[in-house]
Amino acid sequence: MPGVPLPRGVGPWGAWPGAALLTALWILWLLRWAPGGVPAPQRTLTILIWHWPFASRPPELPRNTCASYGVPHCCLSTNRSLLPSADAVVFHHRELQTRRARLPLLSGPRGQPWVWASMESPSHTHGLGHLRGIFNWVLSYRRDSDIFVPYGRLEPRQGPAPPLPAKNGVAAWVVSNFQARQQRVQLYRQLAPHLPVDVFGRASRRPLCTTCLLPTVARYLFYLAFENSQHPDYITEKFWHNALAAGAVPVVLGPPRATYEAFAPADAFVHVEDFASARELAAFLLGMNGSQYRRYFAWRDQLRVRLFDDWRERFCAVCTHYPHLPRDQVYQDLQGWFQGWLQA
Ligand SMILES: *[C@@H]1O[C@H](CO)[C@@H](O)[C@H](O)[C@H]1NC(C)=O
Ligand SMILES: *[C@@H]1O[C@H](CO)[C@@H](O)[C@H](O)[C@H]1NC(C)=O
Repeated sequence: MPGVPLPRGVGPWGAWPGAALLTALWILWLLRWAPGGVPAPQRTLTILIWHWPFASRPPELPRNTCASYGVPHCCLSTNRSLLPSADAVVFHHRELQTRRARLPLLSGPRGQPWVWASMESPSHTHGLGHLRGIFNWVLSYRRDSDIFVPYGRLEPRQGPAPPLPAKNGVAAWVVSNFQARQQRVQLYRQLAPHLPVDVFGRASRRPLCTTCLLPTVARYLFYLAFENSQHPDYITEKFWHNALAAGAVPVVLGPPRATYEAFAPADAFVHVEDFASARELAAFLLGMNGSQYRRYFAWRDQLRVRLFDDWRERFCAVCTHYPHLPRDQVYQDLQGWFQGWLQA
């Protein structure tokens, strides 16, 4: 350290060169750690995506793909010839489940981290029992994932919030997969006699085009953000996009209230578990006055919705977490971790 007198004759080169060496090291250390200092050159990581999710043809992946999401030194590729050299390989579960893609089990260098990726709920995930002791890291919407990628989040807003859309309907619901055994369908059937709900989507033969969904839903006071199944942290675009981004108050059926509160202010949504019955829930929604209703949008003054709906951005997150992820970890029981409760 500078200012501290060094004893004479330290080291083989004597006191002066020793002090100079220490000073040089100190300057290097300062440069490395001081804010705005010269950062150590960073190696570019190559992340091999074995099969692009839900697509027979991957999107274009120019070298600046991750940089455009604010993740430098990160290169995504779908070129399988890079298997021997990639810093990590990502396998999306759906294509493993349907056998469109197979694991290159006997190839791949030792110690190369393999990532299991899925944004689906455990109810729609099969075949995990075959995947014992293969994956090192998990990429999913679950907060305890190694690479946690939520469907959305609230971020600080710059500038004023846009005005709330004008309303001319009470409650909207968009649903394509409608099955009597689903909790959301049971709840809808209990609600419908007490609450006017307009149902859109394939299930009601009123499909909405991708760009029609937001303007349609925005005209409603409430959106039934009912997840297709109820699982830890499983909060999807139904909450983030269809309700919050549209400007309709989400009425949520999904994980417990405490989970939603980890993602959004407690007064930004109505949770069905707060009510003893569907009738009570309907009465609460219909009895709300204007000032109570606007209270649900207080968050919009400071926050805006950010959606994470692009697989490129999700995969770039592998690089963000890469330096901090455990190297010696293996998911021996991926099924137990992801869907343990299903057997319970
Ligand atoms: C895939 O990578 C290999 C090895 O780097 C390279 O020779 C080949 O041209 C690449 N293929 C494509 C389609 O980019
Ligand atoms: C709206 O309802 C709340 C709670 O019932 C009440 O305190 C408030 O006075 C009402 N506001 C108006 C304008 O009616």
